[in-house]
Amino acid sequence: MTGPVFEFGTNGLQPPQSDGRLDAPAFHRNCEPIWQAMRSFLIGKTGAVLEIGSGTGQHAVTYAARTPDLTWWPSDISPLHRASINAWRSGAALPNLRAPQSIDLMTADWHWRGDSDGEKLTALLCFNVLHIAPWRVAENLFAGAGRALGDGGHLLLYGPYKRNGVHTAPSNADFDASLRARNPEWGVRNLTDVAALAKTNGLALANVIEMPANNLVLAFTR
Ligand SMILES: C[S@@+](CC[C@H](N)C(=O)[O-])C[C@H]1O[C@@H](n2cnc3c(N)ncnc32)[C@H](O)[C@@H]1O
Repeated sequence: MTGPVFEFGTNGLQPPQSDGRLDAPAFHRNCEPIWQAMRSFLIGKTGAVLEIGSGTGQHAVTYAARTPDLTWWPSDISPLHRASINAWRSGAALPNLRAPQSIDLMTADWHWRGDSDGEKLTALLCFNVLHIAPWRVAENLFAGAGRALGDGGHLLLYGPYKRNGVHTAPSNADFDASLRARNPEWGVRNLTDVAALAKTNGLALANVIEMPANNLVLAFTR
């Protein structure tokens, strides 16, 4: 890993509960809009869903409960976050939610636990990660999606993006500046660059869905 990593429960953010559970305030605002944008890619499907950078684990727990025919594999590089995912997972006791694993997108040749059996993913989810990490993380995410997704599988991203190199709102421009001040390798990504990465790795941009608070859901199909 290079550079600082974002962690819930640190730097003045709400600390974990005694069982390790973390609560992300943004989750309560974006959980339903993300679900509405993504549900058509998940409902009625079977197989495995991998989430990278699951954070607190709240999205994985909530969406796993709504898709009992899918097996959910949350992951995060942060031990604090994996403890939180485990705590939410214990509370929910869902048969289709696996224990969190550590996947670091700074690693080019990353793997998820199920792929040792040759299983291909139905969907790969990554929310609010690409802007809070170096560009190499985006490169490795798309390369890994090309390897890990089955034919017709979807990579679903959520977060802020520039369109044609232009911020979609002044607040996103301010956010971008604050990210780059924290780490010059971070920053709000350009949809055009991300779509080009997808193409290189055998994925097509299938849908761009506008979300509250100037965020986008990007849906790619392998
Ligand atoms: C802003 S949080 C988003 C968490 C969650 N997806 C959400 O939307 O609430 C960014 C997440 O990316 C993870 N992350 C940062 N660098 C990463 C990397 N190199 N590989 C995988 N995950 C990373 C962090 O640990 C953190 O959980």
